[in-house]
Amino acid sequence: MVDPESFIDEKVAEIGDAIGDDNAVIALSGGVDSSTAAALAYEAVGDQLTPVYVDTGLMRKGETEEIEETFSYMESLRIVDARERFLEALSGITDPEAKRHAIGEGFIREFETVAREVDARFLVQGTIYPDRIESEGTIKSHHNVGGLPEVVDFEGIVEPMRDLYKDEVREVARELGLEAVVSERMPFPGPGLAVRVLGEVTEEKLAVAREANHVVEEELEDHDPWQALAAVLGKATGVKGDNRVHGWVVAVRSVESRDGMTARAQEVDWATLQRIQSRITGENETVSRVVYDVTHKPPATIEYE
Ligand code: XMP
Repeated sequence: MVDPESFIDEKVAEIGDAIGDDNAVIALSGGVDSSTAAALAYEAVGDQLTPVYVDTGLMRKGETEEIEETFSYMESLRIVDARERFLEALSGITDPEAKRHAIGEGFIREFETVAREVDARFLVQGTIYPDRIESEGTIKSHHNVGGLPEVVDFEGIVEPMRDLYKDEVREVARELGLEAVVSERMPFPGPGLAVRVLGEVTEEKLAVAREANHVVEEELEDHDPWQALAAVLGKATGVKGDNRVHGWVVAVRSVESRDGMTARAQEVDWATLQRIQSRITGENETVSRVVYDVTHKPPATIEYE
């Protein structure tokens, strides 16, 4: 990449030329990619761009509120509360790819409704280089790449960051003045906490995953991981108070990586791990066990599904 400042000038001009006087939409997930793409495109065409944030109920603790605040300067911002619809659509589904598919479909439905309402002719996407590579290899279906263009008959797709790596996107985000909460945000998968609970997505598992992820992110912040996360694996026996319980097993994972394509499990000191364990089991009645994942990628992936 050339320097961030020239990159921004160049892309803002390109986006302006591409969209012209038409309307455009972007799916804003709150992650650094879509946020940066939205900020770039907003700079180019202002309220002709409608950023759409779908609250799937699969987001991290406080994320919806943070996004609302960060992007409140965009008058056209739409926040769609689709929590109940997603939970309903995911009910009974246990296969990881089927879960991704249901989320992708649900997302497209919500997004399409807004795109039609605002008569959007262009779709702006925060696709980056590694997304394209992984999708070509069909390692996983990334709903942020496929699907959307086919549903609404867009005149064009604008992907200003398609050749950038994640660390380059962060540089651009910083240069655009996006707050640290966005520019330094850990990558978070499109399907959200759904790929951090094994098997069926239920409100109970999501609540455990949401709290545990919050603890892990807080406690590992100064370890500067590429991603730190918690996943709900299943149930196992434990003892709480005087009672044997069948409680949730939570896996904690922290990895170093450049682009997510390969990763190394981080060496985390025992005291920190114990603090995480004690907070997760202490703050969640239903968690009986916390384990730390020492596997690199490959052979594991970063997420659990
Ligand atoms: P994995 O788990 O495949 O993840 O090692 C590599 C990187 O991609 C993120 N990830 C996703 N991002 N949609 C996304 O937008 C997805 O379906 C998805 N699955 C994984 C993951 O968080 C990591 O940064």
